[in-house]
Amino acid sequence: MSTLAIDGGKRVFPEGFTFEGWPPVYPETADKMKELYLSHAWSYNGKYEKQFCKDFANYHDAEYGVFMVNGTVTIECALAALGVGPGDEVIVPSWTWLATGTAVVFLGATPVFVDGEADTFCMDPAAFEAAITPRTKAVVPVHLFGSMADMDRIVEIARKHDIKIVEDCAHAHGGKWNGKGVGSLGDIGSFSFQQSKIMTSGEGGICITSDEKYRELCYRRKHIGNPGFPYRVTPTPSPIDYLCHNYRGTEFQALILQDQLAHLKEDTKLRMDNVAYLRAGLEQIPGIGTQKPGRCATEQSYYVFGITVEPEVLKEGKTKADVIKALNAEGAVEVFAGWGATTYKQTLWNISEKHYRVESFEVVENIIKNKIILLDIRWLMDRKNIDMLLEAFRKVMKEYSK
Ligand SMILES: Cc1ncc(COP(=O)(O)O)c(C=O)c1O
Repeated sequence: MSTLAIDGGKRVFPEGFTFEGWPPVYPETADKMKELYLSHAWSYNGKYEKQFCKDFANYHDAEYGVFMVNGTVTIECALAALGVGPGDEVIVPSWTWLATGTAVVFLGATPVFVDGEADTFCMDPAAFEAAITPRTKAVVPVHLFGSMADMDRIVEIARKHDIKIVEDCAHAHGGKWNGKGVGSLGDIGSFSFQQSKIMTSGEGGICITSDEKYRELCYRRKHIGNPGFPYRVTPTPSPIDYLCHNYRGTEFQALILQDQLAHLKEDTKLRMDNVAYLRAGLEQIPGIGTQKPGRCATEQSYYVFGITVEPEVLKEGKTKADVIKALNAEGAVEVFAGWGATTYKQTLWNISEKHYRVESFEVVENIIKNKIILLDIRWLMDRKNIDMLLEAFRKVMKEYSK
């Protein structure tokens, strides 16, 4: 058996991971960026923002898009537009990025954390239903990493209890559930365009919806209460106490995203094909499993890929953290543990318990603590690296398994 690199053996990746960098850059965009710069028209719902909002929303089967500075304020604006405020409860998954929970707290409402499913890791509809109280105003399912929350069941439960739905699609650009775009399955969809995301303009975010009333309320909230551009001489006022901000994005961001949108379909397909190949290889290795795609995913978007290691197969004293370290030493950099804890236990969650409630968490906590290994988005773009990664997994698991 070959010695692991972590013990001084030869690395599986002699030259390390090869990829040209993330995000991809397109020469045609660079030319347009120069033209835009020279045009002086850098913000205020210009031609690129208008076009991108329409095209991105339509791609996901929604009517309208409202572009913003990031994918945290989009959740806040979406919930505000749906009427969430102090005293309300909003049900969110126990396994998500901080923003899904903090957006609720920013509105003076209470996030209520619920467990996820063992196969998709996304919000468990039964856990959602069990957490409903008379104060529940909204639910925020997250399409996590490379899967989708069960929107058929979540929508059914939410409608039965008159609960509004914001889909957090920060990881799911281009995903389709039974042929319908993510973000259009509930009331409002929220996306992030932060640097690491499938589509990115460095920072950015968008709300999509097919309801003109919600579009207007999202727009007002991100644009100091004004319902439209150009600044109206006498804008109609926002509802009283509907606090509005400047959360506007720029034309530069919209231009970058507009050009990326043209590649979304082919890139989604590439990642789906590569994941199918990777999944088949990984599942041959005893003790290794994978996060399952959305049950009705007709196009599954992969932001990162979730791989699980069963602790029972590992030798005494070895954990998944050792597996990650050994993979990294083989040159499989950017194979990582993720956020490391349920949302409200993450280091940066500094919100005291009086502002949130944890209803259920056991399934996802076990996966996060003992099993999960994540694979960076860039790996999913390149088959050559996937082959080496499979080799590294086989080598490490052979050595670390009982
Ligand atoms: C699930 C999820 N929701 C929301 C966000 C917030 O997006 P942003 O970083 O653009 O504020 C992120 C960001 O990483 C995320 O992973």
